[in-house]
Amino acid sequence: MVSKEMIADIKNSINIVEVIGEVVALTKAGRNFLGLCPFHGEKTPSFNVVEDKQFYHCFGCGKSGDVFKFLEDYRGITFMDAVLVLAERIGIPIEIEQTHASTPKNPHQDLYDIHTEAAKFYHAVLMTTTMGEEAKAYLHQRGLTDDVIQHFQIGLAPKGNSYLYQSVAEKFREDTLMDSGLFNIADNNAVFDAFQNRIMFPLQDDTGRVIAFSGRIWQDKDSDAKGAKYKNSRSTPIFNKSYELYHLDKAKAVMKKQHEVYLMEGFMDVIAAYRAGIENAVASMGTALTREHVQHLGRFTKKVVLTYDGDKAGQAATAKALAELEDMTVEIVKIPNQMDPDEFIQKNSLEDLQDLLTKTRISKIEFLMQHLRPENIENLQAQISFVDQMASLIAKVNSITAQNSYIYKLADLLPDFDYQQIEQAVNQTRLLNRQQQQETTQQSPVLTLPVSKQTSRLIKAESHLLQRMVDYPMILNDYRLREDFQFATPEFESIYQLLKQNGEITPQDLSLQEEAVQQAWYRVLEENLPREVGERELEEVETIREKELLRKESQMISKTIREASHSGDQDQALAELERLIAQKRRME
Ligand code: UTP
Ligand code: MN
Repeated sequence: MVSKEMIADIKNSINIVEVIGEVVALTKAGRNFLGLCPFHGEKTPSFNVVEDKQFYHCFGCGKSGDVFKFLEDYRGITFMDAVLVLAERIGIPIEIEQTHASTPKNPHQDLYDIHTEAAKFYHAVLMTTTMGEEAKAYLHQRGLTDDVIQHFQIGLAPKGNSYLYQSVAEKFREDTLMDSGLFNIADNNAVFDAFQNRIMFPLQDDTGRVIAFSGRIWQDKDSDAKGAKYKNSRSTPIFNKSYELYHLDKAKAVMKKQHEVYLMEGFMDVIAAYRAGIENAVASMGTALTREHVQHLGRFTKKVVLTYDGDKAGQAATAKALAELEDMTVEIVKIPNQMDPDEFIQKNSLEDLQDLLTKTRISKIEFLMQHLRPENIENLQAQISFVDQMASLIAKVNSITAQNSYIYKLADLLPDFDYQQIEQAVNQTRLLNRQQQQETTQQSPVLTLPVSKQTSRLIKAESHLLQRMVDYPMILNDYRLREDFQFATPEFESIYQLLKQNGEITPQDLSLQEEAVQQAWYRVLEENLPREVGERELEEVETIREKELLRKESQMISKTIREASHSGDQDQALAELERLIAQKRRME
C-alpha cells in the first residue's frame, strides 16, 4: 500500500485548481474559483473550488471532495488509482510492493498496444520495402533525413486494402480492432485499412504512447475525391484531438528548460523547426486551438510562441488563438511572404528559420495592431473604431513603458490621431475596466451564501465543534474524556469516531467512508472560523447544540402526541404530554 505520508505528500504537491481546471472552465470569484458543475447539468455556475483548503463543493448538487475524490468521481476510478494518477503527474516514483496485483491494467491497454504495433508496421514498410523506397525519396526530397524520419517515427501505409489488418488481426480482440479507428468495414462486411497509401505521422500522448495517426497523400495520381491532404484518426477512447498536441512528448523536456513552446499549424512545420535545432515545437491535429490544448500546454510551460502560417488564414488563426491564450505569456513570429515554417526553409536556410523563430518575435499588441489595422486607414470612422479596439488592449498591459511605446506606434499609424488623444482613450478604458472589476468582485461573495442558509443550527453547531477538534488535539482530547459525548448528526459521529481512533482524517480513511460522511467532512472544512478559539466559544456552541437537541426532541414528542390522539390512544397521548411538559421545563 501507499503510505499515509506519501498520500499527504502527493496532495500537498498538487493544486486542485489546476487539476479541475483541466476539465472544467474555472473563473476566479473572490478567494475561490467557480465553474459549471461537471456532475450535474447546469447553466449557471455553482461549482466552487476552494484553493485555500484544496477541495471543491457544488452548491447545486451538493457534491464535494478533495482532489482524489474529484478524480474518482470524474473518471470513475478507485481512490488508489486516483493516488497513482496524481503521483505520476508530479513524478513521484511510487514504490508499491504488489502493484501488479493491486493496480488494474489500464482498460485501454489493448488500444495502446495496437497503435504501437501499427506505428512499427508503417515505419517498417517505409524503411525496408520497395513500396517504401519511393515514399522515402519523397521525404528526402522534402529535406527529411533518415534521422529525422526516425525521430518522428514516420511511416508508410501501404497501397492495398488490408495489409495492416492482416498483420495485426490475429493478435488483437475484435472490439480492439474496431475501436482503434485503424479499420473500416465495407458494405460486404469486409474489413479494410482506414489508411492506404499515405505517409503516416504517428501522434503520441505526452508520455510517448502512440494514440493516433495522420496520413498525408504523397502521390498526385492518388488524390481521389475524398482525399483530403491529411487524414486523421477518428476520435477513440484514447484520442481526443482537442487535447493532444503533435510532438509534445518529445518537446516537453525542452519546454520545461527553456520555459516556452512554439505552437505551429502543421506537422511539417514542427519537423522543419526540429531540423533547425528547435525541439520545443508542437502542433494541434488539424483543429483550431482549444482551451483543453492550452491547459495541456500549461502543465509544462506558461509561455507560447505562436508560429502559424504567414498567410491570411494563419494570421486569422493567430488572432483566435490569442483569445484562448489569455492566461499565458504570448509572443508571435510572423513568417514572411505568406509562407509556413516548412516553406520558409525551402526558400531560405535552416539557420534563417532559427533566426526568424528566436529573434523576430513581436508582442500580442504589436501583432493585433498589424492584424486589426483597417485597410482604409485614411477613413476617420475606421480610425476611431481601430483606436477603440486597441485602447482596451493597451489598457490591460502591465508595464507603463510598454503602454507608452504602443501608444506612440499607434499614433504613427494614424493620420488623424496624436499621442495625447490615444493616451486619453487608453486611460478612459482603464477606468471603465476598473469599475467593472469592482462590480464583479462585489458580486462574487454572494455565491458562497446558500450553504450556510441551508444548514440547520444544529448541524452548524456540531460542525463548528468538530472543526475545533480537528484543528486542536487538546480539544479533541477533552471530548474524548467525556465518554457520554456523541454527535447527534450520524455523519459527524462517524468522523468523530475516526478522529478519536487515529487523531486525524486522512484522504484514504475518508475514501472508505460512505458518500454522506465524505460530504459531511467537507462541510466541516468549509466552516470559516477565526484561528483563535474564543474564551467561552465552545461553551456557547454547546449551549446552542443542546437547545437545538431539546427542541428537536419536543418536536418529536408533539408529533407522537398528535398521532396518538388521532388514533384515539389517550393513555399514550397523556404520557407523552407529561414528557413534553418536563422537557419544556428543562429548556427554560
Ligand atoms: P497545411 O495544409 O498547412 O499542411 O495544414 P502543411 O503542414 O503545410 O503540410 P505540407 O507541407 O503540405 O505537407 C496544416 C495542418 O492542418 C491539418 C494537418 O494537421 C496539417 O499538418 N490538415 C491539413 C488536416 O488535418 N487535413 C488537411 O486536409 C490539411
Ligand atoms: Mn502549412
